[in-house]
Amino acid sequence: MIEIRIDDRKIEAQEGQTVLSAAKENGIKIPHLCFHPALKPSGSCKLCGVEVASPTGKQVVMLSCIMKVKKGLEVKTDSPLVMEAREKAFNKLLQMAPDSGRIRALAKAYDVKVTPPPNGCIRCRLCIRVCSEIVGAKALKMEKTPEGPQVVPRAGQCIGCGTCANLCPTNVIRVLDEGNVRTIFIKEMIAGQHTLGRCEACGNTYATESFLRHVEETTQGHPDTKEHHHLCPSCVKLMSNRALTEKERVKK
Ligand code: SF4
Ligand code: FES
Repeated sequence: MIEIRIDDRKIEAQEGQTVLSAAKENGIKIPHLCFHPALKPSGSCKLCGVEVASPTGKQVVMLSCIMKVKKGLEVKTDSPLVMEAREKAFNKLLQMAPDSGRIRALAKAYDVKVTPPPNGCIRCRLCIRVCSEIVGAKALKMEKTPEGPQVVPRAGQCIGCGTCANLCPTNVIRVLDEGNVRTIFIKEMIAGQHTLGRCEACGNTYATESFLRHVEETTQGHPDTKEHHHLCPSCVKLMSNRALTEKERVKK
């Protein structure tokens, strides 16, 4: 048997045994993912790093699933050097598997800070810009959160036009029309909920009442707005075509 020290515990290990296996046998926890007792170690996940002294005396991080025990070895499993290497290793794995609940749970169990799971938003701000620059409702903003910057609604500003959802390249913002109610979602969060107005000609729902009011207020005096804004786009088109045909007929 060989005596080694892991953190502040002296333990006995067998000749040829790995540090990880000796630690496990003694109930000392070291995170690991790619180790399997029935297989040769591969050193792929890099989660099992521990701090030891190198032959030159420098403190270094070595993979405990590969490193063999030797007489007098002193191992640290949660030093700042280990934590730094561990954080790097976890985040590298999460780059490849950002939604892995198992990796995230393991990181949490070892108090390792990892990048938050992506919510699909690429922070292009198209939604915020179109809502402010074109629609004029200024209903969205970018807010700092513990999960990083997120698009959030400004209370009471959404008019339910859905332009943000049309432009969002990753479908983070969605519009759901059910009955005569339109709901705008930013992921699972409700950004606005609005009653849909009906077309005066065909009776179909086509735009929210808040949006129609907004159009009326912002385009006051425009003849097209006055004449058509209670008609859905299909009916407007139909009527325009009819008017054109009538004009042609009168000309002849
Ligand atoms: S929600 Fe969509 S449109 Fe808005 S910033 Fe994110 S990806 Fe861009
Ligand atoms: S357990 Fe994956 S590198 Fe050691």
